[in-house]
Amino acid sequence: MYKLKEIASEVFYVGINDREKHLFENMWPLPFGVSYNSYLIVDEKTALIDTVDISFSDIFLKKVADALNGRTLDYLIVNHMEPDHSGSIRLLREQYPDMQIVGNKLTFGMIDGYHGITTGLHEVKEGDTLDLGKHKLSFYMAPMVHWPEVMVTYDATDKLLFSADAFGTFGTIDGAVVDTDMNVEHFWEEMKRYYANIVGKYGSPVQRALQKLSALDIQTVCPTHGPVWRENIAAVWDIYNKMSLYEAEEGVVIIYGSMYGNTEQMAEVIAASLSEHGVKNIVMHNVSKSHASYILKDVFKYNSVIIGSPTYSNQLYPEIESILSKIQIREVKNRNFGYFGSFTWAGAAVKRLAAFGEAMKWDIIGTPAEQKQGLKADNYDACWALGEAMAKQLTKN
Ligand code: FEO
Repeated sequence: MYKLKEIASEVFYVGINDREKHLFENMWPLPFGVSYNSYLIVDEKTALIDTVDISFSDIFLKKVADALNGRTLDYLIVNHMEPDHSGSIRLLREQYPDMQIVGNKLTFGMIDGYHGITTGLHEVKEGDTLDLGKHKLSFYMAPMVHWPEVMVTYDATDKLLFSADAFGTFGTIDGAVVDTDMNVEHFWEEMKRYYANIVGKYGSPVQRALQKLSALDIQTVCPTHGPVWRENIAAVWDIYNKMSLYEAEEGVVIIYGSMYGNTEQMAEVIAASLSEHGVKNIVMHNVSKSHASYILKDVFKYNSVIIGSPTYSNQLYPEIESILSKIQIREVKNRNFGYFGSFTWAGAAVKRLAAFGEAMKWDIIGTPAEQKQGLKADNYDACWALGEAMAKQLTKN
């Protein structure tokens, strides 16, 4: 029944689009949905590469059975055990009891833990191969991209890389599967958000994986989320390379919390000053309105960050505390940093923002602006000066 996309000879796309889930990992918004990609090679031996979220097992199993056309499934290759890809393993094993599950030692510990499966396992190590007939597969470990067991599978016959989460993006694939058959422009911002939210902490492991994979002749990249990349491999590679090096575009993200608008007024003055002094890329996030997912994306995207917070219960504003923690966890490097804050009777926020900047080892720019109660002329001037100092930092080269 299914007319499945054959992305290379005998290699079929059997993935699923999820337009139901609101939050990926129950945290990150999915306004454009997400796909769980799975690929089936129907050679002398048959092999499925990764599965899909358990919520979609029913349709997924029908697609796999259709593509197999009465044959059995010889191998399931598990590149990644996060449940968005491993959710259907147990049902697949029930349907194909003789199926060998291909993975590494860490994969198998997780398969036991999640699914109680301890038999029919085929362990592979770095560089090991699996001959399906025409298709010759080899396996390369990519630990912490994005879990420790992650590996990638390379099909030397058609020069396909099954890359697990690497080179993935949020956003469903609507109709077409391969980038050559679709307009991909809307994926770029979603890819950056996906990277910042999901993989952002693991810059060094991503770099190690990219270096390892650069030795392969790759003509098609088949990730677990988003389009199959063929004509945009260089662009996708560049995004992952730059983001894992924490390289960023020139621009300023202003992140602020504000209960009654007084800290927000400071942010407005800083933004106006940045603009007046020549900065064009200015993005403002009210932490009580912007989801952290988008703030993180912009902290990865731009090279300068200015954060403002009111003092709340002698601490930072809780929503600011929360976004600082998410930035710190991701170990974002090499940013220009300015900060400001307000208080009513005793100031604490500015001191805590100073400690954050030091902990991140970011370059502190300008003099922090601190305001007691409402905006007055001296605070206005201090905010203006902070914006000017940051603008000078950006335009000095
Ligand atoms: Fe798409 Fe790390 O799972």
